[in-house]
Order: sequence, then C-alpha cells, then structure tokens
Amino acid sequence: MHIPSIIERKRDGKTLTEPEIRGVIDRFTRGEMPDYQMSALAMAIYFQGMDAEETACLTRAMLESGEVMQYPADAPRVVDKHSTGGVGDKVSLILAPLLACDNLWVPMISGRGLGITGGTLDKLESIPGFRVGFSPEEAIEQLKAIGVVMIGQTGAICPADKKLYALRDVTATVPTIPLLVSSIMSKKLAESLDALVLDVKFGSGAFMKTREGAVALGEALLAVGQAMGVDTSVCYHAMDEPSGRAVGNALEVVESIEVLKGGGPEDVRELVITLAEKVSIADASQLGKWLDDGSAWSKFREMVACQGGEVSSLDDFAAVHPAAVIREIFASDGGTVRRVDAETIGRACIALGAGRGRAEDAINPAVGFDRLVKVGERVERGQVVARVHAADEAGAERAEEQFRGGFLCE
Ligand code: URA
Repeated sequence: MHIPSIIERKRDGKTLTEPEIRGVIDRFTRGEMPDYQMSALAMAIYFQGMDAEETACLTRAMLESGEVMQYPADAPRVVDKHSTGGVGDKVSLILAPLLACDNLWVPMISGRGLGITGGTLDKLESIPGFRVGFSPEEAIEQLKAIGVVMIGQTGAICPADKKLYALRDVTATVPTIPLLVSSIMSKKLAESLDALVLDVKFGSGAFMKTREGAVALGEALLAVGQAMGVDTSVCYHAMDEPSGRAVGNALEVVESIEVLKGGGPEDVRELVITLAEKVSIADASQLGKWLDDGSAWSKFREMVACQGGEVSSLDDFAAVHPAAVIREIFASDGGTVRRVDAETIGRACIALGAGRGRAEDAINPAVGFDRLVKVGERVERGQVVARVHAADEAGAERAEEQFRGGFLCE
C-alpha cells in the first residue's frame, strides 16, 4: 500500500475504498504510518469530505483497531451520552454518576481537550491521582462494583482514535463530519451500549457553527448508531455562550461538584437532566432528586476513589489548583448582557494554557474563567462580570482583553 497515493486520491476528491481506509487505520495504529502523513490525510478529508459509506468504513476500522467491551449476560442496561464538544461543557462529569444511581451501567470513554473545547479526561485528571487509563477488564470490574467508569482511549480501547484525536487537536482538522462521526462513534460502539444520547452543539463555541451543520452531523451520527443496533437519540443545543459560569479544567470540576451537590448553574443542571432522561429508566423528577439528596455526589466520590483519585481533595476543590493570578473583570457600563461569546472564551482559555498547541504539551489545570455572567442578566457598571485565572499577570491581561472583545452589555 502506497500511502502518498491514498492521500493524493483524497486530496483530489476521490472516494477511498474499504481496503484503503482499513490499511491506513491499521498502519497508523501500529505506528507504521507517520503522523505527518496522517495529518495530511486528515486535512484532505477536511477539505474533500467522505461519503456515508467511507464514513461508516472509517468508523468500523477505528472501532476494530481495539477491543470491544464484553459484559456478563446478567449485566443491567448499558447507556451513555456523548457531546460533540462545547466550551464549558461539563455535563459528563455529572451525568455519568447520576445515571449510575438508576442502576444502569455507564462505561464512559471520553477524550481530552479538542480545538477550543475542553475534554472530560483533562478535567478528571485535575483530580489528584485520578486514573483514566484502564484495561477493559478493569473497567468491567468497576462497573460491577459501582455502575460507572470514566476512562480514555488506550492502546487496547480505540487506539486509532487515541492517536488521531490528539493529532486533529493540533492540526486544525477537527470540524469535519467524517472525522467527528468516526471519532465519536468508534468510542461509543466500543462500549457495546444498549442506548446512547448524543448532544450535538451548534454556535460559536461548537464545531458546527450553524444549526443546519449540526443537523447534518446529528443525522450522520444517528445513521451509524442505528446501523450498529444501538438505541440512539440526538438532541441539539445552542453553544453561543459557555455552558455554566466556569470554563477551564479544574474550574469546571469545581462547578460540577456544585451541581452534584444539588446547586450550581441552572443551565448545567437542566441540560444534565434533559440528556440523562433520554437513556434513563427514572424520570426527570427522580433524576433531580438524586442530585438534591446527595446520591449522585456520593456516586461521584465512589468513582473518584475507585479510579485512584484523592477523595479528600473534593471537599475544597477550589483550593487544589490555585492560579498564580486571579483577576476580576468589571463591567464598564450597566445594562443587559447580550453576548458572552463562547468561541472567544474558548480561545482565551487555550492562550492561558488550558489546551494544547502541540500533541505532547502539558496543560495547566488551574487556568480559565469563572463567575461568568450569563446572557440576559442585568449588570451594574463596575460589577464583576467574570474572573480570569492565569499563570501570570501578562496572561491575565491578555485574557481580559480577549474576553472584552467577545462581551456585550447594553
Ligand atoms: N468528541 C469526540 O470524541 N471526538 C470528536 O471528534 C469530537 C468530540
């Protein structure tokens, strides 16, 4: 197989065959196709797209690059949700333990930060000791014990997505339907699910900027889920302002803990319950009760303990990653908040160090924004409209400037 010819064929808008797609994924996964060739192919796919059959082939090849979860015959219903990515989207951290309160199994495989959106794994790893690299056997043992496990792609589970995901993050090749579908669905199909809910985002802080683009993505995801026998549903949500009031890895864990304890921002709680209800047995009111009565919070703590995390760190998590500089941003005029632009805030977070510029970069868990005001709220001149958490004064200064560029109050 001559890889440059395959890249060339996709660059020129040709349809790739199943053996070509499988050959590429096999070689890339085994380390026999270098990152520079895969990056070029990803960019060719970005510009030329793939038809439904190529996308299905790519998804299957990525799924079959690793193992698929095998459950005992008496396992309960196995469910999950996946989001196509948004700024401040911390739903998974709350929803996975909440669903486990319903005696369901939730074997959630997630990713790291991708483009301007944060990643569930980076957020979880801000909990000291938390381990996301489980074998399928370890994951199943944890499901038997507590009903929920939150892990990443490994050398055994979705190894093709593990490598390609990291490459797409730093080569501007994220927002294209075939790569989004194959990445998301290879992980979800590896979980051998009974039911899946997909949260497809659209707007400035999403990969799909328009609702039409999101619907095209949602339909492509649904087609793969249904073809593979998973009871799949799709929800569409706007992502023009960040979800909740905090963006940044550790800051989002702080906010997730608030929601798990029955508080936190209303938009986050509502989204968690809406999505959870699509795959749960319990109704919305019961799901809300499990947030209010501490059941979901105690399940989250159990999960942190099982995955090697320091449970005591959760008691005052805001103190675990103190940023060197915390700067308040004040409203220069009073009025109603019209815009808190999610893309601007996502980009500011990357510049602060919350995301990666190169695949091998470490992220800074402490940085980001909190106390963000929400669109529609009234603010007075001089009121705090956000706080920046930064590694130094220069970073805080730059982030404030960026924030102001995406903020409108009149
Ligand atoms: N989530 C994923 O797992 N992959 C993507 O490409 C985007 C969101």
